[in-house]
Amino acid sequence: MFTKQTIKDVDLTDKRVLVRVDWNVPGTESGQIEDDFRIRASLPTLKYLRDHGASKIIIISHRGRPEGIVTQKDSLKPAQPIAEALLSEKVRFAEDARGDIARHAIESTERFVLLENLRFHAEEEANDEAFAKELASYADIFVQDGFAVVHHPAASVTEIPKLLPAFAGLLVEKEVKTILSAMLQPQRPLLAIIGGAKIEGKIELIDEFIEKADNVVIGGAMANTFIQDEHFGGFDVAKSLYDSGEAEQIQRIYDDLQKNNKQLLLPTIDVAVGTSIEDTERKEKLTTDVWGDDVILDLGQKSIAEIEAAIDQAKTIIWNGPIGYFENPAFMEGSKRIAKAIARSDAFSVIGGGDTADLIDHLGIATDFDHVSTGGGASLELMAGKQLPGVEALQNA
Ligand code: 3PG
Repeated sequence: MFTKQTIKDVDLTDKRVLVRVDWNVPGTESGQIEDDFRIRASLPTLKYLRDHGASKIIIISHRGRPEGIVTQKDSLKPAQPIAEALLSEKVRFAEDARGDIARHAIESTERFVLLENLRFHAEEEANDEAFAKELASYADIFVQDGFAVVHHPAASVTEIPKLLPAFAGLLVEKEVKTILSAMLQPQRPLLAIIGGAKIEGKIELIDEFIEKADNVVIGGAMANTFIQDEHFGGFDVAKSLYDSGEAEQIQRIYDDLQKNNKQLLLPTIDVAVGTSIEDTERKEKLTTDVWGDDVILDLGQKSIAEIEAAIDQAKTIIWNGPIGYFENPAFMEGSKRIAKAIARSDAFSVIGGGDTADLIDHLGIATDFDHVSTGGGASLELMAGKQLPGVEALQNA
């Protein structure tokens, strides 16, 4: 299932190690960090490298999408004191990932050094070979531990592994193994819950789940696209958000379900509506009664109860995407109840990164799940059965 060499397969003694993490963490306009989840997730690898004799540990990451422009908001400098506190050890910071500034910081550090945002150089996302060569020249080996970025080719993701012996870090290994084993060797029944606004970008995920899961729940605005289609009830969704151009995909998914003798669990009983996403008044309605200015923004009580019952039966649960407009407290009931039901169930639970991880974090129950992915796009691609270029680039076991 995981076919790559990891840092446990290499002698790290006296090695200079270049370790790619994903510290693309949310923050304020001045760059102060508001959530250090991804920094904490890198600790097992950083500590392992230290405890196994690495002489220099050079940490590289991107933050935000500065596209080659230096901004205070996207600086990694505020990550330095956080990393120091978590490692209980000095971490030097280099104001630039290139040139004399980087070299001097690496030479003068005792062990840990954090380089400034790679994306302050447009060469990072341009997959530039010279940029990768310069970064690779700092070290003897490369470690990929930035799970959240392995779905994108970039100089520090797919180019450096061509230049240095390249190994998986412990986070990358854990993410890939956990997600794949939940998908491919789950304890059954496997319940998959897919939410979010749009079907676009999630078609392959839906296909994979129809094939692999015993029950599939579709929620969020994405569910509107299904229920307005004649194969899934042909309901009037009034002013609700839905994808009008997906009829062919919906037909194909319907045929697939027939072939596999499966059904989707959709909010066909009841929903909660408002008149806009800002509306503070939640109205519960039968799905058949949606009309006029109604905008479907959440599941209704009976639809929620139906999913809670499926959660109670499941032995493995994979959840990707909020199932209501949770950004507005009036419409977070469905997502909240589903989150709490999964949290208290005995099933093995895997939560996709991005919005779903933010939601459970916001509810303060993130520690009640077995695995909360650090990667939004990366976990989605892996669940959708795609290969991750940054993992493929590593040495085979
Ligand atoms: C993420 O947050 O999903 C990763 O850090 C990748 O960021 P990106 O979408 O800006 O490439």
